[in-house]
Amino acid sequence: MSDRHDVVSASGLNIAYTGAGGFALRDIDFTIRAGEIHGIVGESGSGKSTLGLSLLGLLPENARLSASVFSIAGHDMAAAHEHDWIPIRRGVGSMVFQEPSSALDPTLPVGRQIEESLKLAGWPRDQRRARAIQILDRVHIPEPERRADMYPHQLSGGQRQRVCIAMALAPRPTFLIADEPTSALDVTVQHEILDLFREIRRVTDIGIAFISHDLAVVSQIADRVTVLYRGGLVQHGTVHDVLANHPEPYTQALLRAVPSVRDRPKSPFDIGQGGAWSSVRPHETDDGTKEVSHG
Ligand SMILES: Nc1ncnc2c1ncn2[C@@H]1O[C@H](COP(=O)(O)OP(=O)(O)O)[C@@H](O)[C@H]1O
Ligand SMILES: [Mg+2]
Repeated sequence: MSDRHDVVSASGLNIAYTGAGGFALRDIDFTIRAGEIHGIVGESGSGKSTLGLSLLGLLPENARLSASVFSIAGHDMAAAHEHDWIPIRRGVGSMVFQEPSSALDPTLPVGRQIEESLKLAGWPRDQRRARAIQILDRVHIPEPERRADMYPHQLSGGQRQRVCIAMALAPRPTFLIADEPTSALDVTVQHEILDLFREIRRVTDIGIAFISHDLAVVSQIADRVTVLYRGGLVQHGTVHDVLANHPEPYTQALLRAVPSVRDRPKSPFDIGQGGAWSSVRPHETDDGTKEVSHG
């Protein structure tokens, strides 16, 4: 598919929220390569969204970022100002959020919303409608010409998330940040959207960061994985190395907390119930079973 060059590269990344006491991310090294899906996993509050938002300059006002390397699609953004991010957000990098309903404007037909994102990315007016229809078709929205004229509420939840993915892909971005894109969907639809991400990986060169609290989801879709815990990087590497061969104690705890991974028979991720615990572990419920909070 591609030479797997880095499209996003961060090293020694620290992010603190002023007034919130302490760092949301500490000394993180993170890259996204062209044509890969890089999973970011960890329990709620571990810093996943903070990392994802930072890569598009979308952190809130009270966030303070420092890094020794912070290269986004070839631009050094370590000391970037808001206006420096605008060209990156308009077509170079895209974001897909957990809730398609809040990401879409309820008052505009979905095709128009895609055309709007193409307009911001500098696409000429006479090409936008055709590209919107084409990309709706690519994300497998049936009868895309008819659906383009529909409003978000006229589509199912799964179709709305497909529209959000279409909007993100329309301007042909270099990289895509998907923050819990399947977490609000029911299981069947979740599988369909994961299939779509796999297909995007197969047929495009886009580098994808796929954020999820759910290690089972990440294990199904990612090439590499980064495990965060309380703002620190616990482990990163290929999915196979991290989840099957050499999971750190915290990663093991996450694995044990996910029934669909734990119970999968003869899976490379079936690491058994043994293994040492460190002091780092997900929350335990009152009955002593492990539980990872969702976020
Ligand atoms: N705008 C903010 N102001 C202050 N603290 C924040 C803000 N956003 C997130 N945080 C804190 O930063 C930490 C990481 O949050 P977040 O990146 O949202 O984690 P995750 O996405 O893994 O659930 C949490 O402790 C959270 O409370
Ligand atoms: Mg989050």
